[in-house]
Amino acid sequence: MYRRLLLAKDLLADDGVIFVSIDDNELFRLGMLMERVFGPDNFVAQFIWRKVDSPNDNKVAITPDHEYVICYARRLGDAKFVQKPAPEIVAAYGQIGADGRRYRDRLLKKNGANSLRRDRPSMYFPIPGPDGVDVYPVHDNGEEACWAKGRAGVAAHIVDGTLIWKQREKLGLVGWEPYTREYAPEVPTRPWPTVWNDLATMRQAKAFLRDVFQTSDLFSTPKPVELIERILRTTGMQDGVVLDFFAGSGTTAHAVAKLNAEDGGNRKFILVSSTEATEDDPGKNLCRDVCAERVRRVLGGYTNARGQAVEGLGSGFAYLRARRVPKHRMSQKLDHSEIWCALQLLHGRPLSPWPGGGFAADEGDGHAIAYLADAHPASRTRMETWLTARSSQAATVYSWAPERYRGIDSPHDWRPIPQHLRERFGR
Ligand SMILES: C[S@@+](CC[C@H](N)C(=O)[O-])C[C@H]1O[C@@H](n2cnc3c(N)ncnc32)[C@H](O)[C@@H]1O
Repeated sequence: MYRRLLLAKDLLADDGVIFVSIDDNELFRLGMLMERVFGPDNFVAQFIWRKVDSPNDNKVAITPDHEYVICYARRLGDAKFVQKPAPEIVAAYGQIGADGRRYRDRLLKKNGANSLRRDRPSMYFPIPGPDGVDVYPVHDNGEEACWAKGRAGVAAHIVDGTLIWKQREKLGLVGWEPYTREYAPEVPTRPWPTVWNDLATMRQAKAFLRDVFQTSDLFSTPKPVELIERILRTTGMQDGVVLDFFAGSGTTAHAVAKLNAEDGGNRKFILVSSTEATEDDPGKNLCRDVCAERVRRVLGGYTNARGQAVEGLGSGFAYLRARRVPKHRMSQKLDHSEIWCALQLLHGRPLSPWPGGGFAADEGDGHAIAYLADAHPASRTRMETWLTARSSQAATVYSWAPERYRGIDSPHDWRPIPQHLRERFGR
């Protein structure tokens, strides 16, 4: 998984984020890999998804009913997330103004703990009332109190016209009392919680697949579309690409299409899955028969298990098969000398000619760069020998498939051939 995660990081946009769903079996190991690949500073959150609504096994003392979704950003500072829509908070704004806007008025005098003058002396100051007489914060029992806002905060309310005066009886006298007016937000939102126990469960995800295919047990670990939808909603993304490289039953494409249909967004998906064929079941093709077929049905429409026509969510997709390219075809058409020249220029190195023989390297002044041109193990061995003999430090090595070589043991900084060079000289 280490190399897969490195590759996933390479594929992420600068403001991209990754969500990994995992259960207790691998949580701690995955956490360490994520820390290593993305760095602790790019940790965003660990969500808990409640996956079952009733215990799977009633005989045991403890049984897990949740899984995790771990989220990291490629660069935390560049990643964007949006709050959860929260229309319910508008109800807390009980008044409706002449302009139809909902608001609430809050007593400016602080109540409860730390509400005395001696607790916060700087929050005790006069505010001129509507009759010109200064008003000080005083509790109903006559004790000197303090305001809930400082001088600057109160001044801002006065400028905004949101410092409201009301007459109130206190100690048998009627006097002016200031309130601050707060309007309900036009788009009410609040932070997402990290415990997600309000979503569909694994049972419902399986029931959905049964409904689409009218047969059971096609796939044992589907996620509910609501879970992936929730993940996408936290990012607020309206376009861009969602990649799921363990696509399973294709829930991610379903969630993307559902959100696009809902808000007219232009999100795209790339799903990758394996056939799951085995020696015992060589004809199995989960990718073609479950993943692609589910996506085809939810996008194009289908008849469900109860014989009802379910309308498609719209849009389409292409189904592609990836095959391993034989090594000799990988290197045949590449112009290695041009690429080596461009890589040297990229690093500001004096140009040396392409030596042939599978790799080129330049030791520079202490930091070596190298180009590993083909996938022959012998080329890599020769390159490592060359680097070890000349440079004590780790090198920057460009190759066509860096994820094959990166590993916890390799000291080098394995990099892909830059995109513009691939387009120009590669295949
Ligand atoms: C837990 S499932 C994902 C479930 C998916 N989120 C869903 O809702 O259906 C993991 C999937 O990854 C696939 N997988 C495992 N190894 C793979 C590989 N090397 N390349 C692509 N997919 C792979 C498995 O076949 C399995 O379908």
